[in-house]
Amino acid sequence: MDELDVDRLREHELRNRSGWNADAPNWVEGGRRNWASSEPTWGMFELPESELKLLPDVDGLDAIELGCGTAYWSAWLARLGARPVGIDLSERQLETAAMFQSEHGLQFPLIHASAENVPLPDESFDFAFSEYGAAIWCEPQAWLAEAYRLLRPGGRLIFLGNSPLVMLCAKETELDEVEDAVGPQLMRPQFGMHRLEWPNEEEVSFLLPHGEMIALLQQIGFELESLTEIQAPEGAEETRYFVPRSWARKWPCEDVWSVRKAA
Ligand SMILES: C[S@@+](CC[C@H](N)C(=O)[O-])C[C@H]1O[C@@H](n2cnc3c(N)ncnc32)[C@H](O)[C@@H]1O
Repeated sequence: MDELDVDRLREHELRNRSGWNADAPNWVEGGRRNWASSEPTWGMFELPESELKLLPDVDGLDAIELGCGTAYWSAWLARLGARPVGIDLSERQLETAAMFQSEHGLQFPLIHASAENVPLPDESFDFAFSEYGAAIWCEPQAWLAEAYRLLRPGGRLIFLGNSPLVMLCAKETELDEVEDAVGPQLMRPQFGMHRLEWPNEEEVSFLLPHGEMIALLQQIGFELESLTEIQAPEGAEETRYFVPRSWARKWPCEDVWSVRKAA
């Protein structure tokens, strides 16, 4: 369903749409693997949900995935009994998601829209979710306020993105496929961290330090349930995306936030 209001897209949304359309072919293989996995997994080191136990019981819930990409998380929410809707800014990513829906015989609505301006009514979902979708590509105030608006009272939002620490330690280089892009040194100030851009990358991402994120969540009206800092599991040394496993054994590479709209 194409609901994209192009005239309302801001500069970073235009850049992210264009960048993700161009990058979509590179996410087909990973999406295919994740659609076929035996259980949902979290983040770049693919920690299984059976270990982390971060998902609530979603059976019977109306769920929305904000920045669903290939929609493998929505597929898992459907398999767990939820009624998911996937939203994404990139029509190419949604084409991949639709292809996997056909291959797996698992249908749910896919909407072409920005998570900063979702064309759906207030209080229409019990559960909102983002794994590296709106959680990092959207301006925090804009998408979190939208998630709050979309949730019914008592509804929960869970989102995963990079940790502040991994971005503080990332070098001024193109991040993807660079073996030593993250090291043990702080490369930039934490104060003022908000919008992140990298040389030669069209996309723009966002990240707030923990204190500012907590203040923003509370200002919007969310109650904080938990913040889980992800540690990579033991294993052979390798770099996932831009993070070496040895780095992520010592420091958190990702955060999972769970917050609730008061009942
Ligand atoms: C790394 S993917 C994450 C999604 C999913 N977990 C996956 O791996 O396929 C990031 C997605 O966020 C989407 N995105 C970026 N900005 C967005 C926005 N403003 N609204 C909705 N989706 C957005 C991109 O198009 C992309 O599909």
